Amino acid sequence: MPKLRLDKYLKDQGVASRSEVRELIRKGFVSVNNAVVKDPGTHVKTEEDIISLKGVQIDYREFVYYMLNKPKGVITATEDKSLKTVLDLFPDEIRRRGVFPVGRLDKDTEGLLLITNNGIFAHNLLSPKKGVKKLYEALLDSFPGEDAIEKFEKGVYIGDNYTALPAKLQYISTNPVKALVEIHEGKFHQVKRMFRAVGASVIELKRLRIGDIWLDESLKPGEFRELTPEEISRVSRGRFF
Ligand code: URA
Repeated sequence: MPKLRLDKYLKDQGVASRSEVRELIRKGFVSVNNAVVKDPGTHVKTEEDIISLKGVQIDYREFVYYMLNKPKGVITATEDKSLKTVLDLFPDEIRRRGVFPVGRLDKDTEGLLLITNNGIFAHNLLSPKKGVKKLYEALLDSFPGEDAIEKFEKGVYIGDNYTALPAKLQYISTNPVKALVEIHEGKFHQVKRMFRAVGASVIELKRLRIGDIWLDESLKPGEFRELTPEEISRVSRGRFF
């Protein structure tokens, strides 16, 4: 059965920073199985012991999973000295759990970004071997032509000695020019470079889906919610690999 130091247990649950947690423990605000414990180094069993802070039971959850509707203008990073990052959109109690973005979207791209503290979950979504599909909606400056559908299907050359894997292109409208594109990889500026290869520039880009997980359209840019157990299990069960 997993055992943890009491201060780590509470810090991992996001209740406060490690040093604040130690202070709370030393002051007698924390109990283990109804007995006050003042040593932050006390080991507790995550699945058995009942830990309370100021009388409120704090259950242990190792992993957390969120979907964010990433807004334009924030960078996909965990921290930056001058620019706002996607993690700045999350409160401290979630950030303290050691969450990070799964993959990246460009600063000017919006839409679905997954945030977790589970490295294996992230690896399963990002590994090129898994080829997880990703769906984007693009607003273009011009119409690349019907033949771009076939070119995408065959794989377009996007520079740097690289030809993109076959991708699905579907036009939604021609005025303005809007398209859906589904890719199975995530090279730097991939979608923008693919459209450039067929003579169009991307004006706006939004990610709608990763694997079988769709962006919840009720989330406004900048808003997030936890993944449902069903959404998480779609990744864990490997249904889209
Ligand atoms: N392709 C791009 O060009 N940009 C993104 O942010 C994601 C995919």
